[in-house]
Amino acid sequence: MDLKIKGKFALVCASSKGLGFSVAESLLEEGCNVLITSRNDQNLEDAKVKLLSKKYSGAVESFKCDLSKKDDVIKLFKKASSLSDNIDILVNNCGGPTPGNFDEIDMNDLEIALNNNLKNTIFLTKMIIPIMKENNWGRIVNITSSSAKQPIDNLILSNITRSGIISFAKTISNEYARFNIMINNIMPGRIITDRIREIANNKNGDLEEILDSMGRDLPIMRLGKPEEFGPIVAFLCSEKASYITGNSIQVDGGLIKSLF
Ligand SMILES: NC(=O)c1ccc[n+]([C@@H]2O[C@H](COP(=O)([O-])OP(=O)(O)OC[C@H]3O[C@@H](n4cnc5c(N)ncnc54)[C@H](OP(=O)(O)O)[C@@H]3O)[C@@H](O)[C@H]2O)c1
Repeated sequence: MDLKIKGKFALVCASSKGLGFSVAESLLEEGCNVLITSRNDQNLEDAKVKLLSKKYSGAVESFKCDLSKKDDVIKLFKKASSLSDNIDILVNNCGGPTPGNFDEIDMNDLEIALNNNLKNTIFLTKMIIPIMKENNWGRIVNITSSSAKQPIDNLILSNITRSGIISFAKTISNEYARFNIMINNIMPGRIITDRIREIANNKNGDLEEILDSMGRDLPIMRLGKPEEFGPIVAFLCSEKASYITGNSIQVDGGLIKSLF
C-alpha cells in the first residue's frame, strides 16, 4: 500500500535508537524527509549512518536536543522550520521516566518526568500546530505506553504522565480535525529496546531470563521487535489515516486484556 506521504517532512523526537528510530526508518521507507533528534552526538551519527546506508529517497537530518530543556525544544523547532516550510508530521517521543513506586520517587523525579514525558510534547505541539493549520494538513502521533490504559506497578511516573498525554491529545484532536490534522497516540507494551532492558535490569535475576519471561507472559508469548512498531506509526502519519483521530492504539502483543 502506498501511504501517500512521499516528500512530506517529519520531525521524529528521540529517534537515535529504539522506537523513535524504528518510526524514522518507516517514514523514510515511505519517502518522507526526516529530522531525527537525541541528546547524544555519537548516537545521532550512528543512527544517521544506518539510515543513510539504506539509500532511501528522502533526506535524513539530525539535531542534538535535550527535550527536557525548553531552550533546546525552541532550537529544535527553529531547526525543523529552517529545513522545511511545512512540518507535516510530528512524532512526539522521549526517554521513559525513572522506574519506581510512590515511596521511591521524589519531587525532582516528578519534575523530570513532567518535562520529558508531558510538557515538551505540549510545547512542541503548540509551536508546530499553527503551521499544520495553515497548511490544512498534519499528523501528530505521541508515543506513550500501555501504562496510560493499565497502570504498571513500579512505574508510577509513566502511569501519571502518559495518561496526561492521552487526555491532551484527545482534547486537541477535537479542535483540529476540521483542519485535516489527525492526532493519535500509540501505546507500546513490551518491545525490545534499551528501555525494556532498563526495566528488566531493575528486577532481580539474570537479565536474559527476565526478558524471556516478560515475553512469555504475553498472549503472543514473546517481546515485540522495533520493526513491528514503526510501520503502525507511519500508517497513522499517512494520508491513508485521514479519518482516524483522538485514538490510542495498542502495539502490545495482547498485553492489555480489556475489551476497549
Ligand atoms: N519499548 C517499549 O516496549 C516501551 C513500552 C512502553 C513505553 N515505552 C516508552 O516509549 C518511549 C521510547 O522508548 P524506547 O523503548 O524507544 O526507549 P530507548 O530505546 O531507551 O530510546 C530512547 C530514545 O530517546 C532518546 N532520548 C532519551 N531522553 C531524551 C531526551 N531528554 N531528549 C532527547 N532525546 C532523548 C535516546 O537517545 P539519547 O540517549 O541519544 O538521547 C533514544 O534515542 C519511552 O518513553 C518509553 O518509556 C516503550
